[in-house]
Amino acid sequence: MVKHKACVFISGKGSNLENLIKKSRDYNFPINISLVISNNKKAEGIKFAKMNFIPFFIFNEKSRFFDYQVLNILKYYNVNLICLAGYMCIISKNFLRRYKKKIINIHPSLLPKFKGLNTYTRVLKEKEKKTGCTVHYVNEKIDDGKIIIQKSFIINSNDREKDLKLKTQKLEKNAFPEAVIKIYKTN
Ligand code: GRF
Repeated sequence: MVKHKACVFISGKGSNLENLIKKSRDYNFPINISLVISNNKKAEGIKFAKMNFIPFFIFNEKSRFFDYQVLNILKYYNVNLICLAGYMCIISKNFLRRYKKKIINIHPSLLPKFKGLNTYTRVLKEKEKKTGCTVHYVNEKIDDGKIIIQKSFIINSNDREKDLKLKTQKLEKNAFPEAVIKIYKTN
């Protein structure tokens, strides 16, 4: 199977990056992680790129050359899919135009509910009965594009923020790879 080349954008821990790298070792998984980009030089997740000999680049998103530099590198590595995995920056219109329907994001709530930050706090405050995660295409609005996959669980009365985080992130480890498979099945 010829695999598509993917780039993962991170800002922090990188557990989704680590998981996607593992999954990409499966013969049938449609992508290889060819590149990792971080906007944060202290992102823990960079270690997964290093450990797996995957090229990685760190760029300051505040630089006026950011888009130019990143777009050049993506082109150089022939990247076909961009996976945002805990990437804490907004993707510019310029970027979205170049990679139409090729940028996906994972979000720790059942979108369209609880877009943005501090999802677990808000989920508890709103006394939701269930929550989960969403993988969606990225558009110009935050946490807004077409949904590819969602996974949910029922919230227990004694669940605290840390429990929601644990359960949500566990679901993410299936949701992200399944979304990637779904994309290449339907395209
Ligand atoms: C995930 O929960 C994801 O949904 C959110 O940020 C977190 C990133 O975790 N966007 P990690 O860096 O992949 O461990």
